[in-house]
Amino acid sequence: MIKKGIILAGGTGSRLSPITKSINKQLLPLYDKPMIFYSLSVLMLAKIKDVLLITNRDDLKLYKELFGSGKDIGLKISYAIQEKPSGIPDAFIIGKKFINNQNIALILGDNFFYGQGFTKKLQDEKKLKSGAKIFLYKVKNPEDYGTAEIKNNKIKNIIEKSKKNISSYAITGLYFFDNNVIKYVTKLKPSKRKELEIVDLLKIYNKKNKLYFSLMGRGSAWLDTGSPENLLSTSEFISTIENRQGLKIGCIEEIGLINKWINKKNIIKRINFYGNSMYSNYLKKLINHG
Ligand code: TTP
Repeated sequence: MIKKGIILAGGTGSRLSPITKSINKQLLPLYDKPMIFYSLSVLMLAKIKDVLLITNRDDLKLYKELFGSGKDIGLKISYAIQEKPSGIPDAFIIGKKFINNQNIALILGDNFFYGQGFTKKLQDEKKLKSGAKIFLYKVKNPEDYGTAEIKNNKIKNIIEKSKKNISSYAITGLYFFDNNVIKYVTKLKPSKRKELEIVDLLKIYNKKNKLYFSLMGRGSAWLDTGSPENLLSTSEFISTIENRQGLKIGCIEEIGLINKWINKKNIIKRINFYGNSMYSNYLKKLINHG
């Protein structure tokens, strides 16, 4: 069972420079809310309440201002600093104390997931007892991602970004690990680009036949946010769905309310904090009609 989650929200966001020269990528807008709301909401949908947010030293204050202790959204948020972007598995070194003797979920702060049945999938998969679980999504441009080669419904191989096009199943930025991750991460060596690589960590699990996968079907969306084009098209996707349905994607207060972690009073506090905005109007509707 997974009860704790880490959001990795550091990085340099170099592909989005100059936007990211003075703003942390995960605080940039995806349509009507900061990018980090979407990854945080994934952990909340998985009913994970205990969250460690890792970011750059200079950006920490901004996240603390935005979420505080997490109480008013029903969470317990702790914070940690990544001094430099030395790779995704670094999250397990930084988060060692937080993880303690538990299993752990990791989500990258720039990932966007959406789709019918996703919440159920998360809640099923979090029952993971041992091993690691990755979430795969079929893409047209697998050469831009780490991929998993599937054979007989099993992971045959983990492949780093490769032009050879062996698999079209990209490894998304959501991972569930058992507690062995703390031990395995110490075995990793920095790659040519001087980073610890998540694919190397996954390969350790795969060697032990302990790497499992869950496929996100074609009715779901895993979208990129890392380049200017992607940032815009993902915003447009969110705007299209939200304005058609009148429901918000990634509204952390709404999920807190649905999970029965918070009440009307907490939502009112968040409305006062946000001030007069469309987002606040949505929150007002939730507590007046909900
Ligand atoms: P990347 O997209 O690999 O890197 P980046 O966000 O710095 O952007 P760019 O490629 O344009 O330079 O990172 C994926 C996610 O992981 C993103 O949410 C940032 C986060 N991350 C860290 O917080 N620390 C790290 O050391 C790395 C490698 C990534």
